[in-house]
Amino acid sequence: MGDAAHLEPLFTSDAIESRLDRLAYEIAGTMPKDFAAVAILKGSFIFAADLIRALTAHGLNPDVDFMTLASYGLGTSSSGTVSLLRDVEVEVAGRHVLLIDDILDSGRTVAFAKAHMKAKGAAAVHTCVLLDKTSGRSGASRADFAGFACPPAFVVGYGMDHAHKYRGLPFVAILKGE
Ligand code: IMP
Ligand code: MG
Repeated sequence: MGDAAHLEPLFTSDAIESRLDRLAYEIAGTMPKDFAAVAILKGSFIFAADLIRALTAHGLNPDVDFMTLASYGLGTSSSGTVSLLRDVEVEVAGRHVLLIDDILDSGRTVAFAKAHMKAKGAAAVHTCVLLDKTSGRSGASRADFAGFACPPAFVVGYGMDHAHKYRGLPFVAILKGE
């Protein structure tokens, strides 16, 4: 039997709040006035809620929608195939889309969502993730906007889960002992 799982705080709610304000400022300076913000559920729901309010504070008023993707892999690794569980309702053809996800790890989820938006006729697809785990990795796709570089550990909180738990933590923590 291993040690009980414990949480090692990584990004505090204060750090997240000020980073999101800066991220929204960067996005406001890059995106056109009209675009669709599409959050990839479930992991991004809290990040998206805060980011979209920060975008509003910076004068933007995007259409907001959600898509649900599932990645079937083993345990805490994300090597799997991605499938679409719920599509967006908002009109995408000919428009700019900002995809919002929690973590860029292998990049499969965001690549799938991007290809899906392009197939629906999006004029341009931009990507924004809270955490980028791929910083030290070559060949991985990058996000246009990223909140923080994340170490190669399994993290939870601020919307992110382990077996559906921990999503409600107001900060991001490394889950140890699982
Ligand atoms: P990718 O498709 O390999 O880029 O994986 C991205 C998805 O895997 C994210 O949207 C998360 O849902 C999940 N994921 C990857 N790493 C973690 C983690 O450390 N904690 C929780 N979920 C993770
Ligand atoms: Mg996810």
